[in-house]
Amino acid sequence: MNIVIFGAPGSGKGTQSDKLIEHYNLFHISTGDVLRDNMRRGTELGKIAKGYIDQGQLVPDELIIDLLAQVLDENKENAADGVIFDGYPRTIPQAEALEQLLADRGTQVDAVVGLEVPDEELIKRILLRGQLSGRADDNEETARKRLEVYYNQTSPLKAYYEEQGKYLAINGLGTIDGIFDLIRQELDNL
Ligand code: AP5
Ligand code: MG
Repeated sequence: MNIVIFGAPGSGKGTQSDKLIEHYNLFHISTGDVLRDNMRRGTELGKIAKGYIDQGQLVPDELIIDLLAQVLDENKENAADGVIFDGYPRTIPQAEALEQLLADRGTQVDAVVGLEVPDEELIKRILLRGQLSGRADDNEETARKRLEVYYNQTSPLKAYYEEQGKYLAINGLGTIDGIFDLIRQELDNL
């Protein structure tokens, strides 16, 4: 089972991924986490990514698509039972590349879990986390920029996956466990 966990910044993708990987034995790939790890290690990719992430902008598709292919290749065994893609795809070209990458490996996206949360709650969560996270993009100005980028560049993917009959809308407002129960009900019905 390959799942995309989809939603705006702060919608709970990482939080729900932690619960999903445990329950379904999936391998978690968060492109944001991989990029932040590269930034910490000071790699070439990390240096390039920092310029975009600190401004709340998307890292260019070519870099991200290559990165994803590399992570999949390095984790063939871990990914054997399926993958949860968190924070990827964020553009139509990324979604098309994912389709191809998975087709080349004899598999496909089975479902897209869309966490739907009102904007002001997203900002509230990001600012609260920013008090501890040390993430340079967890401040109000950058959070609002990330949200704008989400609506302009990423939200069209909802219609893209709806057309494929893969989009599962989840109310992302509520307790973490309550939201996980909603996701589980949807996935267990597939
Ligand atoms: P990325 O790391 O993907 O961040 P994001 O999408 O902005 O989302 P977050 O990680 O902030 O939020 P989340 O949805 O994971 O929520 P979380 O569970 O943490 O991307 C960062 C940057 O990297 C991008 O801006 C871009 O520059 C670059 N990038 C990454 N991927 C890319 C790609 N594919 N292409 C191009 N560029 C890319 O929850 C948020 C907070 O809320 C936490 O504190 C959590 O504890 C809390 N919380 C969670 N659930 C609840 C709840 N139910 N109620 C109350 N609080 C909750
Ligand atoms: Mg996250």
